Amino acid sequence: METGHAVAWALALERSAAGQAIRESLWLYPLANVLHVVGVILLVGAIVVFDLRLLGALRRTRPADAAALALPVARAGFLTAVPTGLVLFLAEANGVVTNPVFLVKFGAIAVGLVNLVAFHRGRFRDIARWADVPAAGRLAAAISLAAWLTAAVCGRFAAYV
Ligand code: HEM
Repeated sequence: METGHAVAWALALERSAAGQAIRESLWLYPLANVLHVVGVILLVGAIVVFDLRLLGALRRTRPADAAALALPVARAGFLTAVPTGLVLFLAEANGVVTNPVFLVKFGAIAVGLVNLVAFHRGRFRDIARWADVPAAGRLAAAISLAAWLTAAVCGRFAAYV
């Protein structure tokens, strides 16, 4: 995965004691990788369900009920994906920050998080009273779907670039 030039701080990270320990351990990297994928599955699966509801599918469940079911699962997935992602990152930080596909992935995660915070501070707060999903909800869902699916696809695709 050495596609670009070395980045000093990233090289320092992967050469650190933690980076070396992760690479040398027989089980640490594979375990982090498996848990990362499990976290991603929970995160993206739950988000897709909620976003589809906001976009007009799955209408038998009220938006507030869909949120109550899906969002805790998404949160648990995110809280699993981040620390395990950092373990994977430490093992090969320079390869990651010099890989353009990874940069797209992190950009997509940033867009997903900004969108999430903006939506939750805005229209989401009165979701219990929605008769129909407002335009702001549909827009947030479309951005969310695009961002998290891009992150997942780039996460997998990065290994081949
Ligand atoms: C701070 C957060 C994250 C960090 C630091 C991170 C870092 C990484 C790293 C270093 C890899 C290893 C790639 C490789 O060489 O094979 C990876 C894999 C992957 N990541 Fe992340 N990631 C994060 C969050 C996410 C999120 C939110 C998603 C999905 C929405 C995601 C999706 C994936 C996928 C699908 C893979 C491929 C796993 C595989 O096929 O083995 N990651 N991630």
